[in-house]
Amino acid sequence: MLPKDIQGDDEKNRRIRQLIIKESPGVMTPEADESYCYIARRIGLGCARMGSMRGPDPLKARALIDQAYERGVRLFDTANSYAQGDSESILGNSLKNRHDVMIVTKLGKQVPLKARLLKPVKNLVRGLVKRSAQTEDVVRRARGGLLPVSFDVPVLRRQLDLSRRRLRRDCLPMVMLHSPTAEVLHAGHAVDFIEKAQNEGALEHIGVSVDDLEAAEACLSDPRIQMIQAPLHHSDQEMRAWAARAGAQGRHVVAREVFRQAVRPNLKLRPETIEHLLNTALDTPGIKTCLIGTTNPTHLDQLLQMAQVHGSSSNAIEVF
Ligand SMILES: NC(=O)c1ccc[n+]([C@@H]2O[C@H](COP(=O)([O-])OP(=O)(O)OC[C@H]3O[C@@H](n4cnc5c(N)ncnc54)[C@H](OP(=O)(O)O)[C@@H]3O)[C@@H](O)[C@H]2O)c1
Repeated sequence: MLPKDIQGDDEKNRRIRQLIIKESPGVMTPEADESYCYIARRIGLGCARMGSMRGPDPLKARALIDQAYERGVRLFDTANSYAQGDSESILGNSLKNRHDVMIVTKLGKQVPLKARLLKPVKNLVRGLVKRSAQTEDVVRRARGGLLPVSFDVPVLRRQLDLSRRRLRRDCLPMVMLHSPTAEVLHAGHAVDFIEKAQNEGALEHIGVSVDDLEAAEACLSDPRIQMIQAPLHHSDQEMRAWAARAGAQGRHVVAREVFRQAVRPNLKLRPETIEHLLNTALDTPGIKTCLIGTTNPTHLDQLLQMAQVHGSSSNAIEVF
């Protein structure tokens, strides 16, 4: 039975239905709609808030991940530190039987002691956050601080083992360093560790998630880095020019925070703005995938409907 919200007769719903039917063997096998596949394969679901105190509880998070998969999304972004590890556990449980997905996880950021201590009472805190703006503010401010970071090999090794366990995979599809500085990248030891783990069969692909242009540039001097994730403000010409160069070198560039950076926190974005920002990111030369950090099932469907088709489908699907 197809979900009610895609039973309408407009063209986009028809495309979504075709994709779902194609991906559910035994139902029917009409030709898949290439342009819809193309859109969905260029979107990645950002899972930073899945299972967090300010995000959906594990059941709702799993439903959202299932919905994204059913709609054709195949890239899911998480990190060892997100939601005290619960983001990875939720993704691991949701996608354990899916083998056509690119799960991206990241190592290096650490969960502070006070956040670890709160983990057993997370459900209680989540309930309070929903009921009280004041509690939400306290949690937001506590979370707003920078997380401690370490790219020391013993830390990376411990986090990699934890991520493999939580994501329920011996061999992770993509492991990134989480926000290293340019110095860390030039020193090379952290990427050396990831490469060694790759040679040992613990991961397939090597990536880096950067926070600034300097680190983004440093990635380009290391040919081992296959995927680079970067914040892409629609008016950040330098980062956009970098993305074009990175793409031309054959790096898989993932744009993130394409909505968040444009506005002040808590300001509601108008649908036209969302549509413009999403398509500006997807149209930026060099960008292969755009992460969307939604926790709202309606927003997820809106975003998939807003994304415009540009380029050929073979172009996007070879990404994976
Ligand atoms: N250093 C790093 O590696 C790093 C840093 C930051 C983020 N990330 C990754 O990037 C992902 C995305 O980042 P982000 O969430 O900060 O930025 P984002 O995707 O630019 O923004 C997410 C915000 O946009 C809202 N939104 C999405 N679709 C909407 C719609 N159709 N209408 C109205 N509002 C909409 C979301 O609210 P709703 O939930 O209500 O839809 C949420 O508040 C994260 O989940 C994480 O995986 C990585």
